[in-house]
Amino acid sequence: MTRVLYLIACAAGPTQHIDDAVRQARAAGWDTCLVLTPSAARWWEARLGELEMLTGHPVRWQYKLPGQQDALPPADAMLIAPLSCTSLNKWGAGIADTLALGLVSEGVHLGVPIAAMPYFNQAQGAQPAVPRSLAVLREQGVHVLDGPAGYEPHPPKRGNPSSFPWSRALAALEAVNAR
Ligand SMILES: Cc1cc2nc3c(=O)[nH]c(=O)nc-3n(C[C@H](O)[C@H](O)[C@H](O)COP(=O)(O)O)c2cc1C
Repeated sequence: MTRVLYLIACAAGPTQHIDDAVRQARAAGWDTCLVLTPSAARWWEARLGELEMLTGHPVRWQYKLPGQQDALPPADAMLIAPLSCTSLNKWGAGIADTLALGLVSEGVHLGVPIAAMPYFNQAQGAQPAVPRSLAVLREQGVHVLDGPAGYEPHPPKRGNPSSFPWSRALAALEAVNAR
């Protein structure tokens, strides 16, 4: 495996199944490094070791300290999925107070191909900030996978995190990476 993917996950439902996403990304030929938001890392706190065994890399969830070496190889592409409503709006506003958001917000302007697939319900998606943030990401060159080609917000309380279409996100990433 020579292509390095940063798979970046927020504290949204499908992150409960992030191990499945890692397996699919590896099967697609990506040396997969996992980055979690601090909130998502809490969900996996007791099992971070399993994820490290699976990826063969440290799982990163917070910024390093000044002077510390990078723990991961440089990324050839990044997929931020699931992208929570909160992280979407922070990113759209230029806030990078988590390593997850720091990597994508800087990465896109360093020329790294980046795809983002949100996951939130229709009530969260009804906030006026959401379409604004999606547009701001697209303007910057992020390949946003919302709507029929990606993930469409579900009715509140009706989400099915285990059916999150990781394969669609990985397929789109191939297309973005080939550009
Ligand atoms: C059990 C649980 C499930 C959640 N699911 C979602 C979700 O599917 N989508 C979403 O946008 N936010 C969801 N949230 C809210 C986010 O976790 C919250 O906004 C958090 O601040 C996101 O932080 P992050 O984007 O840094 O991971 C959920 C919260 C909890 C406690």
